[in-house]
Amino acid sequence: IQRTFVMIKPDGVKRKLIGEIVGRIERKGLRIVAMKMVKIDKTIANKLYEEHLGKSFFNELVEYITSGPVLCMVIEGDEAVKVMRTLIGATDPKDALPGTIRGDLALSKGENVIHASDAEEKAKREMALFFSTNEIIE
Ligand code: GTP
Ligand code: MG
Repeated sequence: IQRTFVMIKPDGVKRKLIGEIVGRIERKGLRIVAMKMVKIDKTIANKLYEEHLGKSFFNELVEYITSGPVLCMVIEGDEAVKVMRTLIGATDPKDALPGTIRGDLALSKGENVIHASDAEEKAKREMALFFSTNEIIE
């Protein structure tokens, strides 16, 4: 059993895709063990995306992720990190396969509706940015 951090990005919330996306995660058989609506500030955005600091799209990325509320979740299940990455699809929705969240629901690399951690250590770090341990269901 593994946990991963998942976040519906501002475009996903604005487009009222929360139900659609949470439904897919639940139907896959994964468990939601924490959930919170957050308006990300610049400090948290810089921490969440520190691996991209200095890249050409960094400022655009921070503007986007702070532009409106996001829905943060901790998702649990067998190989949850890998399974969630498969469910969300490729970073650029134009390359994401039909049947994936980005493949079905997004078109723009800059606004790709969802984030999921790409490794277990990153998942731990990212969930700690948004949740205290007592907010995660045992
Ligand atoms: P996340 O789950 O959000 O981390 O996406 P990812 O792991 O599939 O992609 P990556 O970590 O490489 O990039 C993080 C985020 O930066 C992407 O999801 C996009 O929102 C954004 N991003 C990546 N590349 C570009 C780009 O070329 N232009 C713009 N505007 N945004 C980008
Ligand atoms: Mg990433």
